[in-house]
Amino acid sequence: MAEHVGIDLGTTLSGLAYLKPDGNPEIVPNADGERLTPSVVFFDSHEEVKLVGSAARDGGDPERTVFQIKRHMDDPEYFVEIDGRKWTPAEISALILSKLKRECSRIIGDIHEVVITVPANFNELARKSTIAAAEMAGMKVRRLVNEPTAAAVYYAQTQGVHGRVLVFDMGGGTLDVTILEVEGGNIRILTSEGARHLGGANIDELLLDIYAAQYRSQVNADLFKDERQRRRVLHAAEDAKKMLSKLHRVHDTIGNDTDGIARIDLTRENFEKIAQRLLTRAIMLVEQALASAKLQPGDIEHVVLVGGSTRIPKVKTALEKFFGSPPKSCGNVDEAVALGAAIFAKRSARIREVCNQSYGTLAYVVNSKTGEEGVKNSIVIAKNTPIPCSMSQVYTTSEANERVIEVDITQGEDTDPRFVDVIGRITLEVPPDRVAGCEIAVTYSYDENQRVRALVMDKQSGRSQEVAVTYKGAGILSEEELLKRGSMLRQFRIE
Ligand SMILES: Nc1ncnc2c1ncn2[C@@H]1O[C@H](COP(=O)(O)OP(=O)(O)OP(=O)(O)O)[C@@H](O)[C@H]1O
Ligand SMILES: [Mg+2]
Repeated sequence: MAEHVGIDLGTTLSGLAYLKPDGNPEIVPNADGERLTPSVVFFDSHEEVKLVGSAARDGGDPERTVFQIKRHMDDPEYFVEIDGRKWTPAEISALILSKLKRECSRIIGDIHEVVITVPANFNELARKSTIAAAEMAGMKVRRLVNEPTAAAVYYAQTQGVHGRVLVFDMGGGTLDVTILEVEGGNIRILTSEGARHLGGANIDELLLDIYAAQYRSQVNADLFKDERQRRRVLHAAEDAKKMLSKLHRVHDTIGNDTDGIARIDLTRENFEKIAQRLLTRAIMLVEQALASAKLQPGDIEHVVLVGGSTRIPKVKTALEKFFGSPPKSCGNVDEAVALGAAIFAKRSARIREVCNQSYGTLAYVVNSKTGEEGVKNSIVIAKNTPIPCSMSQVYTTSEANERVIEVDITQGEDTDPRFVDVIGRITLEVPPDRVAGCEIAVTYSYDENQRVRALVMDKQSGRSQEVAVTYKGAGILSEEELLKRGSMLRQFRIE
């Protein structure tokens, strides 16, 4: 039986690694002989067959093929419908995990317990869905670990990286920038910022436009007319992109059955021009992470590269320009997370992480010093607090004879309620005939898998109500509604 196993369940590629008896992690190939498995599932129409991996990606009908399911792990409403059966993101992910478990256990023995990595900014629902996916695949999750933490563990063990480290992870679907402190065996995340739709897949889409434009100018026709053809060209564009990481000029021949073929010319210079906007956004995210940790570029001792898209030379030079020295690369940038997860499976007790979001509630805040008052977002548990943790704030009721206390759950950093998300509400029934000013405690707890719970307690009666906090991406409330909601709780603050 394999004891220390880590899995990187990626948006585009997934990998499994185990810890060898000598303490070094190693990637376990799948039955197709690949070190990483494309996170793609194909549902065959004739048989009860589901293909996972390269065969699924390259083969069939796009209507029956599921790509990038990880992007939907936080959406409770999302499902994929195939032949009348609805599949949740957790169920699709379970199919990917099943392939890894089945095929890798032939090499390393039975796999029962694993560490799975998730993006640092994955919310409660996405984390829960990941755990559920592993269970459906017949594996128990020992711990979820943030991808940058896993990567940092790997760099610390293999490249002697230590001190203040910035992990720049640009994969297929997302960019994550995390700053951590690595001291001996301890790792502390200081901050983590993520951007969706800022990865290799977005660059592929931009290249696709160039393919389509060059084809049109030569053949005077559309290069692709349906999703299947579009996918094929997208695949060619991705290959060309990878070659441009090594070569300065690439030629490709592409066509369709009806309009003939055309020769596509791509230069690295041109490629860098189209990718410039994404790169600028990437550097902005680095600035944002530094600001959030209250650090300057010079405070970072090592910048480490993670994710396949960091093989793009311009990504490295942009970071070098920003920090003044070249980033560190371990070479196998797309395997670092899985390898780190395997190390983590053995050493988790010595690694500390922090909250990646602030949670609070709406309250009518009176500043006793300035006399200023109004509805504010009152933060209970602040971003970057070390986890696991639990924090409380006591409020008072605004009015007499209230029977139901409504407490809004907010997610966001700003004290101005217009700039945070109200993601839920807890209602608590309280005894009748009370005066205003009864104490209500709001407590948030963050567990080691970064799952969040909120508890509201009426101190006088001892009645309480607890919920799991799930990010819903609810819209921002109208000012009128904010005032109405926030007026139920009062907080006096001396600033
Ligand atoms: N040589 C290369 N040059 C440019 N891009 C590359 C190269 N090799 C791989 N990529 C890109 O890296 C991406 C995959 O990276 P990775 O495996 O790190 O992503 P992932 O972990 O699945 O995604 P995410 O981290 O967003 O969940 C793909 O978009 C792929 O095209
Ligand atoms: Mg990744």
